[in-house]
Amino acid sequence: MRVTVTAGDPLSTTTDLLALALWEDEALASPLADLIEPGDWTGKSKQTLLLYPRGVCPARRALLIGLGKRSSPDLDLVREVAAIATQRARELNVRQFAFALPVVPDQTPETIAAAITEGSLLGGYRFLEYKSNLKPEERHEVDELNLLAPDDAVEEATRGVARGGAVARGANLARDLANLPPNELTPARLAERARELATAFDLPITVLGPAEMREQGFGGILAVGQGSVNEPRLIAIDYGAQYTDAPTICLVGKGMTFDSGGISIKPAENMDAMKMDMSGAAAVLGALHAIAELRLPLHVVALIGAAENMPSGLAYRPGDILKTLSGKTIEVLNTDAEGRIVLADVLTYAQRYNPSAIIDLATLTGAISVALGPHAIGLFTNDDALAQRLLRAGETAGERAWQLPLWRPYREMIKSEIADVRNATGRQGGAITAAAFLNAFVGDYPWVHLDIAGTAWTDSKPKAYQPKGATGVGVRLLLQALRDWAQA
Ligand code: BES
Ligand code: MN
Ligand code: ZN
Repeated sequence: MRVTVTAGDPLSTTTDLLALALWEDEALASPLADLIEPGDWTGKSKQTLLLYPRGVCPARRALLIGLGKRSSPDLDLVREVAAIATQRARELNVRQFAFALPVVPDQTPETIAAAITEGSLLGGYRFLEYKSNLKPEERHEVDELNLLAPDDAVEEATRGVARGGAVARGANLARDLANLPPNELTPARLAERARELATAFDLPITVLGPAEMREQGFGGILAVGQGSVNEPRLIAIDYGAQYTDAPTICLVGKGMTFDSGGISIKPAENMDAMKMDMSGAAAVLGALHAIAELRLPLHVVALIGAAENMPSGLAYRPGDILKTLSGKTIEVLNTDAEGRIVLADVLTYAQRYNPSAIIDLATLTGAISVALGPHAIGLFTNDDALAQRLLRAGETAGERAWQLPLWRPYREMIKSEIADVRNATGRQGGAITAAAFLNAFVGDYPWVHLDIAGTAWTDSKPKAYQPKGATGVGVRLLLQALRDWAQA
């Protein structure tokens, strides 16, 4: 869907569908007001009312959408309202619709336009690749959204559309990757998708296979991947190396294309969900797509450890001791705690870039969804200033994160009797001990770990802009944080 901005009065705009978002206390302008039965329209949050103006204004249809009370403005509501309008436009089979830029207290036309664009593109997302017999009308997509802005807001709104569009396209790329089935998206295929992205933006990319990783000593990722015929990959894309005065930020993603648990195999029920165990990698690639589209003046390195965790005669086992890229040894107590082993190597590799920050995203533990449920990302850090950047960004972007501690007693829980660290402890504090394990591999570099295991997938539709399946979580948070950083 193309999103454009035009100056103009909604009531004199010719369009298939005119969407008007209205506050509870906002009177509907005549002549549209004359079309409704007073009382049918209250403007409460997300209420909709479809009108047929029939010549009282040039729009063929008008869709009123409630914003609720003006006293509690919320950008996330704007995203939802835009998603609702887009879905209605699709159901009505229109080719084009217009959306009048609402006035939201404390927000600029740029942020409002960005939120509408995000909500619309995220809400319009569907994953239809494997539906083989849909009717044309079931495949119908809206081609164009025109944002109608007052003359003096067109320029700002246009910037917002570019920004919101880039963020949403990044998040939808992450959703696509995470929704793909594991037979299609193997580590090698994930590397190919990364290569396509790098080529599109003319960025240098390095992909290491098992032979190169063996030479260099990636003992963690190799062990996790050795049970599968789908061999592991280490993926590195370098963006913005020319910004030599800007900070270098490493974005690290867990890319388990399927996590069966390995020899410590998972129960059959819901094992299929483990195709999304590469959502961290997906978010990193989605974020990089948006960063490149927006040409952020930062040096960002995307690093992905991609592997498939399978049981077989070649698989790694509980009891194995692995030598990682860092030289540290890991005692494997549970082959299902594989993400931290892969990340140990990638976090070590990241240090070659001497980064100002390392941010990893991983569907690391079931324990984080026990702790925080589906509404917050788990955040862990060795650097409170960096953490604050991300916590604030998450708030603004509508992807909230919540910090959990990494105090010394937790860090001691991962010590092994016979190796340096062990990959599993008991069930207690499971998300924290996993983070403490990662902490042992980041040296003194400022680092944040985002555990997205509770937020990367949804079986309900928690928000109008969030369909079932992969959420693309992390992309919006990262882009907000990195834009803020680039501006500082
Ligand atoms: N990929 C899983 C974590 C996960 C669980 C992601 C649910 C998304 C939804 C991870 O590799 C895993 O299996 N973790 C184990 C760790 C345990 C064996 C110490 C877990 O959370 O049970
Ligand atoms: Mn696992
Ligand atoms: Zn996993």
